[in-house]
Amino acid sequence: MTAASPDRRAIITEALHKIDELSARLEIAEKADTEPIAVVGIDISHDLVGLCDRRKHSTWLSYEVGDATKLNQPDASFDVVVCTQVAEYIADVEVVLSEAFRVLKPDGRTIFITTDWDALVWFSDDAKRMAAVLKSWEAHCAHPRLPRTMPHRLQNAGFRLYDAFVYSLLNLSYDDDSYSKGLSTIIEKFVGGRGDVSASDLNGWLSEFERLNEAGRYFFSSNRYIFKASRPAR
Ligand SMILES: C[S@@+](CC[C@H](N)C(=O)[O-])C[C@H]1O[C@@H](n2cnc3c(N)ncnc32)[C@H](O)[C@@H]1O
Repeated sequence: MTAASPDRRAIITEALHKIDELSARLEIAEKADTEPIAVVGIDISHDLVGLCDRRKHSTWLSYEVGDATKLNQPDASFDVVVCTQVAEYIADVEVVLSEAFRVLKPDGRTIFITTDWDALVWFSDDAKRMAAVLKSWEAHCAHPRLPRTMPHRLQNAGFRLYDAFVYSLLNLSYDDDSYSKGLSTIIEKFVGGRGDVSASDLNGWLSEFERLNEAGRYFFSSNRYIFKASRPAR
């Protein structure tokens, strides 16, 4: 778990609340500031881990730089592994799954949260330009449509898949604190560096959102797919 926008925090909170035992223990820890559990957030980015460390407020929470394809943690050392929006960035998803399986205790549980970029509805009066920008954006990750193969991949890795659901993000305005406004600037930067969409199309794509917003016509919706699985005790 790493630094989160309000939307991401909501996803993570909802996912964690589905794991009743862990969420109860987290609430106890937050209220009492005791240390009944330890949570470690792992990311390969030194910058991100540094940012999280600076915001850290709980003694039971720590962050470390690590690679999801070769975790530093020992075998069977975690009750729960939560992987939010990381697996789709790694070409060899099977290794990510086998590492999650390895560090989980028998009967331990995992949650994988991933985005399918085909499940994005982002309104524009220029559908062709929107499609060109989003096609270019797909190159930002290794697996832009990972969710549809996750059930099969989890089962192949030895997990027992026991639940799956969708969390929808819906923005009806283009506000500074909306997920989609932040995303639009990230996309503009990424696509601008690729050269497969002209600068004028990219500027037009970005500037249209303010106009749609002012006219009350802004619409953004994206789905996060959440998979819950356990490591069988055997
Ligand atoms: C879309 S961000 C998600 C960040 C965070 N997990 C969240 O949900 O807010 C994708 C993250 O995957 C991380 N990442 C990419 N490859 C990784 C790897 N091999 N091991 C660990 N993290 C990785 C990136 O550094 C980046 O922070």
